[in-house]
Amino acid sequence: MRTPVIAGNWKMYKTIAEALDYVEGFRAKEADGVETVLCGPYLTLPALVEAAKDSAVGIGAQNMHWEKEGAFTGEISPAMLQEAGIPYVIVGHSERRALFGETDEAVRNKVKAALTHDLIPILCVGETIEEREAERTQEVVRTQVVEAVRGLSSTKMTRVIVAYEPVWAIGTGRSATADDAQNVIAFVRRTLADQFDQQVANQVRILYGGSVKPANIDALLEKDDIDGALVGGASLDPESFSQLVDAAV
Ligand code: G3P
Repeated sequence: MRTPVIAGNWKMYKTIAEALDYVEGFRAKEADGVETVLCGPYLTLPALVEAAKDSAVGIGAQNMHWEKEGAFTGEISPAMLQEAGIPYVIVGHSERRALFGETDEAVRNKVKAALTHDLIPILCVGETIEEREAERTQEVVRTQVVEAVRGLSSTKMTRVIVAYEPVWAIGTGRSATADDAQNVIAFVRRTLADQFDQQVANQVRILYGGSVKPANIDALLEKDDIDGALVGGASLDPESFSQLVDAAV
């Protein structure tokens, strides 16, 4: 049985004060059976770790470099996240791929570095609207997955969380239907079975992301292969995010 994950990606929203207010207002679920993660901007992370330390909420970063240290102005390393007690890191978000030129190779380096430092990578994959309309969804998603996990041991692969986030559904209010999300996510699982084996594929948590909200979470979570959600906009409000966590319990 795969434990569901509800992860919030705040993107570039919330100051330290706002982040602390949020955690106070968020009914941290001690509930067994759901992993709750909040990924804030870097500056909020130490305060979030401290504020969430007696709760079931895990804290995550939204990006990192893959090197342990070096002359990389503006970057944060996996060793720094590990030292700060931050267990999760989002890798390969489409905004980083599109706006900051993150390549499949960089994503692979980050996945590997995260695992080496005992962090859990939340690996994002997903097609653009042009790729979808050209019926290239499977090809694009397959390449992103295969390139990101190439060379991992089976044990390391089972620690990766994959998030299927179709780019056209992010921040648009237009979620994929639960059936569409299930189809692509089942395809991702088959891809992992090809690359590793069925047992490994069955253990990997695969989330859906893209305009997830309290109104559509139940239909998504009902699907066999959808193990939770990576949530942007609806994670900014503690009440909405609580509802999403409740739905997964
Ligand atoms: O990483 C989460 C994300 O990109 C989805 O954003 O606002 O559509 O839930 P949103």
